[in-house]
Amino acid sequence: NPGGQDAKNLRVKLVLLGDSGVGKSCIVLRFVRGQFDPTSKVTVGASFLSQTIALQDSTTVKFEIWDTAGQERYAALAPLYYRGAAVAVIVYDITSPESFSKAQYWVKELQKHGSPDIVMALVGNKADLHEKREVAFQDGTEYAEKNGMFFIETSAKTADNINELFEDFVDYAT
Ligand code: GTP
Ligand code: MG
Repeated sequence: NPGGQDAKNLRVKLVLLGDSGVGKSCIVLRFVRGQFDPTSKVTVGASFLSQTIALQDSTTVKFEIWDTAGQERYAALAPLYYRGAAVAVIVYDITSPESFSKAQYWVKELQKHGSPDIVMALVGNKADLHEKREVAFQDGTEYAEKNGMFFIETSAKTADNINELFEDFVDYAT
């Protein structure tokens, strides 16, 4: 639809938050490059990546993604990244109850200090490790519902639900 009247170039500013090791960088790498890195290194500070997807009417949506560092020593930097974001993706690892608690901490922090119209999503990653699961799907669903968030379980390793996760936010593009 080149030159079509409805074609637009939209963008979504998105930040990923969550405990170190839950797979934030792997989710982004899967979405942006279609790859998985089993030896992914911890993020230092934050990293920025973008990915543009085309919709059926030839509108494009550019995701501008801040992948933050989950290690505790970087926690104070988080506001720099979530303040300008339209969407916050809060990630935990379904094999780690501690990471689920940490996700709840981030939800509360954003409710207190984030923009009031930020859209939040809760993501249970590493869904491929179902034999080691320690956080029930139902627990994720219920917490997300109570807090008015999207909920999805993903696997950066198998690519399960990775595109679906980002497609949830197309409606918030501006
Ligand atoms: P920080 O940068 O320290 O905040 O960590 P992170 O959340 O970015 O974690 P990262 O993406 O680096 O992944 C940590 C480890 O988990 C790596 O060894 C990954 O290979 C592994 N991993 C990430 N996603 C998945 C997944 O979906 N399934 C499995 N089995 N392993 C995963
Ligand atoms: Mg990382």
